[in-house]
Amino acid sequence: MDDRPLVYLTREIPREGLDRLEDSCEVVAWEESTAPPHDLLVDRLAELEADGLFCNVADTVDAAVFDASPNLRAVGTMSVGYDHIDLRGAAERDIAVGHTPGVLSETTADLAWALLMAGARRIVEADQQVHDGEWDTWGPMVLLGRDIHDATLGVVGLGGIGTAFAKRAAGFDMDVCYTHTGRNEAAEAELAEYGVDATYCDLPDLLDRADYVSLHVPLTDETAGLISEDELRRMDKEAILINSARGEVVDTEALDRALAEGWIRHAALDVTDPEPLPPGHSLCRHAPERITVTPHIGSASTETRGEMAVMTADNILAGLADEDPPYSALE
Ligand code: DGY
Repeated sequence: MDDRPLVYLTREIPREGLDRLEDSCEVVAWEESTAPPHDLLVDRLAELEADGLFCNVADTVDAAVFDASPNLRAVGTMSVGYDHIDLRGAAERDIAVGHTPGVLSETTADLAWALLMAGARRIVEADQQVHDGEWDTWGPMVLLGRDIHDATLGVVGLGGIGTAFAKRAAGFDMDVCYTHTGRNEAAEAELAEYGVDATYCDLPDLLDRADYVSLHVPLTDETAGLISEDELRRMDKEAILINSARGEVVDTEALDRALAEGWIRHAALDVTDPEPLPPGHSLCRHAPERITVTPHIGSASTETRGEMAVMTADNILAGLADEDPPYSALE
């Protein structure tokens, strides 16, 4: 019998993270590609008497999970966000919780720009037309989009990902404004080194000014529903909303109406509420001219996911050794 600590994995992960865990732990993984249903996760942890849990943003790690696993000492989420984990419940039970800050900022910023550019220049629709054999001719009025260069970029949340995103505006000669929990002078100075002069403003001012509004805030009680009917109506009719943060930051029902009634030009979303979007969801019924949706792939590059897996493994190993995880999510 294996007397090493047992770590339960809720999904297949990059090899380098698995190797790190298997050096000193027994590892048991959920066999399917989709998330284990919550009740099965609870049952499996109880049955295995797991010491560690390697999870991700699609797993809800709550009191039921903790109560079912009295041996649990370490939870590692392969994500920077930890709104899916009951941190207070973990702290009360002395369970270490780690996450993966920093490593995915540049990769997520790349994806946010891909969404911005796809929305502005109608890339998904254009590609679809060519695939459908509808490329008849060069047309003076075909697939007209919006310029990106010289436009105003509004960055909501100037943390690590927001700063990496704003930095990329340099090549487009954009005016950049941002909101944050207060003025972020360190980020402003970092952006200035890239030639980006970012001005701090409040959300209504940003919504009044920006051609592109990109969300980079964590999901908290304060940011849930931050972009709702008033905010969407306040945006310019030609503005584009980009969300690579969390779906719940935007009120889905209000966004649905905004797209149906043309309050804004386009929404480019990597995250949605609910997630995943069920087939036939109202957001999927808008024309591609109005909406681009990707399935929460902000950090999905081979390099970054490999590093995230190793960081997550290291967080769990530290917790199992009764040490603070190198990237703790607990204060
Ligand atoms: C995160 O890390 O929080 C992303 O949403 C998933 O990579």
